[in-house]
Amino acid sequence: MVERASEFIKSKIQGEYKIGIICGSGLSGLCNKVENPVFVNYADIPGFPVSTAPGHIGRFVFGTLSGKKVVCMQGRVHYYEGYSPESIITPIRVMKLLGVEKLIVTNAAGGINESFNVGDIMMITDHINFTGVNPLVGKNDGNFGVRFPDMSFAYSPKLRETAKKSAEKIGLTLREGVYIGCSGPSYETPAEIRAFRVLGADTVGMSTVMEVIAANHCNMEVLGFSLVANKAAGMSGERLTEEEVIEIGNKTANVMQALVANIVGEI
Ligand code: HPA
Repeated sequence: MVERASEFIKSKIQGEYKIGIICGSGLSGLCNKVENPVFVNYADIPGFPVSTAPGHIGRFVFGTLSGKKVVCMQGRVHYYEGYSPESIITPIRVMKLLGVEKLIVTNAAGGINESFNVGDIMMITDHINFTGVNPLVGKNDGNFGVRFPDMSFAYSPKLRETAKKSAEKIGLTLREGVYIGCSGPSYETPAEIRAFRVLGADTVGMSTVMEVIAANHCNMEVLGFSLVANKAAGMSGERLTEEEVIEIGNKTANVMQALVANIVGEI
């Protein structure tokens, strides 16, 4: 199925794309900077999962960013939509077959770290998979990677150094920390957020961890960013809504765009 999907896409594009970018909730504006774009809708790709989440468009954008060929995912699928973990990692494996070696993942997240403000961008240094599942459960496909993949450097230290320099260049105060991935779709309780803080998490969201596990399995170098869309449950005295997540994403998209565009030029 992964092969059929990648063959279909290859028939629509030319050449190899070594850099992949996943745009999270409200961050699809990131793709607008891609020059000479070729769009491939997920719905047209045989066997490909199609997102139903708000703020997600659902297509690949192939083109050039900062002089490099990139493939952007404008929208992704989530576990809470009812997709199997296997479906969630299908796009990663398809990108691998398209030649992607470096993956930049973005998400909108709740800020757990008390020093974080809404609108901050946090570079993910590591993650905690709290979804309760691992997308590699089942027969291992040795074409992609080993049975027990190492996760010691899940977010490439080398790419992180580059990202720090890019942030400095564009005058961005880049936060750093640990992302905890939950299944959703309910937001967390305040008690869960207090527990996650004790566990060492700085942001919380409903994506990313499964994709990053699959990317590490097939030997991609990964870089990840959380946009702090809201203070996590119980921290502000307010209720959480999906509208605010998308709104902050739209407002901050240009900063994330500038950061990612600069990084792409350097890697
Ligand atoms: N929790 C989980 N996922 C999220 C949040 C949150 O507070 N904000 C944006 N995505």
